[in-house]
Amino acid sequence: MTKSNTGSFTLTDNQTGKSYDLPVLHASVGPNVVDVRKFYAQTDHFTYDPGFTSTGSCESGLTYIDGDKGILLHRGYRIEDLAANCSFLEVAHLLLNGDLPNKEQKAKFDHDVTYHTMVHEQLSNFYRGFRRDAHPMAILCGVVGALSAFYHDSTDINDEHARMVASFRLIAKMPTLAAMAYKYSIGQPFNYPKNNLGYAENFLHMMFSVPAEEYEMNPVLAKAMDRLFILHADHEQNASTSTVRLAGSSGANPFACIAAGIASLWGPAHGGANEAVLTMLNEIGHKDNIKEYIAKAKDKDDPFRLMGFGHRVYKNYDPRAKVMQESCHEVLEILGVDDPLLELAMELEKIALEDPYFVDRKLFPNVDFYSGIVLKAMGFPTSMFTVLFAVARTTGWVAQWKESIEDPQAKIGRPRQLYTGPTERPFVPLDKR
Ligand code: ACO
Repeated sequence: MTKSNTGSFTLTDNQTGKSYDLPVLHASVGPNVVDVRKFYAQTDHFTYDPGFTSTGSCESGLTYIDGDKGILLHRGYRIEDLAANCSFLEVAHLLLNGDLPNKEQKAKFDHDVTYHTMVHEQLSNFYRGFRRDAHPMAILCGVVGALSAFYHDSTDINDEHARMVASFRLIAKMPTLAAMAYKYSIGQPFNYPKNNLGYAENFLHMMFSVPAEEYEMNPVLAKAMDRLFILHADHEQNASTSTVRLAGSSGANPFACIAAGIASLWGPAHGGANEAVLTMLNEIGHKDNIKEYIAKAKDKDDPFRLMGFGHRVYKNYDPRAKVMQESCHEVLEILGVDDPLLELAMELEKIALEDPYFVDRKLFPNVDFYSGIVLKAMGFPTSMFTVLFAVARTTGWVAQWKESIEDPQAKIGRPRQLYTGPTERPFVPLDKR
């Protein structure tokens, strides 16, 4: 990673007439940043940017999004190329190590992840403490946090080897934990991972096989699952990734940091959107009702939003949504599923993309718009959709966590605020209030 000063901004306080020079740091691609680290010391002012719409929180060499052009790059590679030509674990290697693996590196990386897929047997007791109808994201928050109590030997964040082992463990164990959450909810026995299967295949096996029957792997579905994982692997400094980085900035245990990311991902404005899309499509029910729901989405007094539409960064078609749309058609065709929800989704997309409200605000479908339909066709219950997102995003989270820990300039994250509460006032004893 390199960054160099490429100039400066001059900011003038119009009350005092004093001017301050703020250095500009150079990005390899995309917007440069104005360095405000000394701003408070120089000016006695903070900057104000709730929601971080204009604020860079870190330096990163992992993922770049050009939201206007609809481009997503991981370590410089286009997401469309990675989705078409790589396995999820190759992308994981790319994110963690900076480059795509050669054949030997790939074999070693696949082996290292595969041999961490089992979880401590005692973890199954955790599941039994949950109600059967608990949301699997609630279970995942709990059990991933609990990993910190089981794998002490990989929690020394100052040790490079321990950081890598923790990363492997998280990437490898997440499908096992996710499938266990599902099996628990339907009252079936947990399946152990199988090391002769690939990452996505193994996940499908743990999800859908039962001891009483042979499980027949459908290679097209395994490929679609793997592609879905690739599409969700990393996405810059979004809410959950920033949460992981912020939690990690205090030196916290890596498993606990990822649990924090899972909690952040769960919200419907973020990873929970794929579940919300399907709920929305079911609620709309029929093409004839689309107009009414579009009107609701545009009505500022109505909290309803078109789920799976809009993105903080993309002001163009989300490139992942395009791949997902193709995958959706492919999976439905292979399975011979004629899902009216797909037809409804396509009609909704068409109408929204022609509506001036959505056009003016540059609201396009995001990756979650079609992923729910694919997952439903593959047999996943709606409540598992965000869990699958968490499985895939764990790779991005650990890569970003590692990068932040290894950043020599890293500091504990500690935002400032614009205080608008009461100024100091005399204390009033209880009997006088
Ligand atoms: N439906 C209707 N109107 C919308 C939508 C939507 N889905 N998204 C944004 N808008 C409108 C807003 O009301 C606002 O209108 P205004 O300027 O007239 O006030 C304008 O578009 C800008 O929206 P913001 O909320 O300011 O945009 P922000 O960048 O803060 O939010 C977000 C982005 C949260 C993704 C938003 O578009 C949204 O809620 N979408 C639906 C949920 C969703 O699909 N989330 C998944 C995101 S992708 C992911 O996490 C994988």
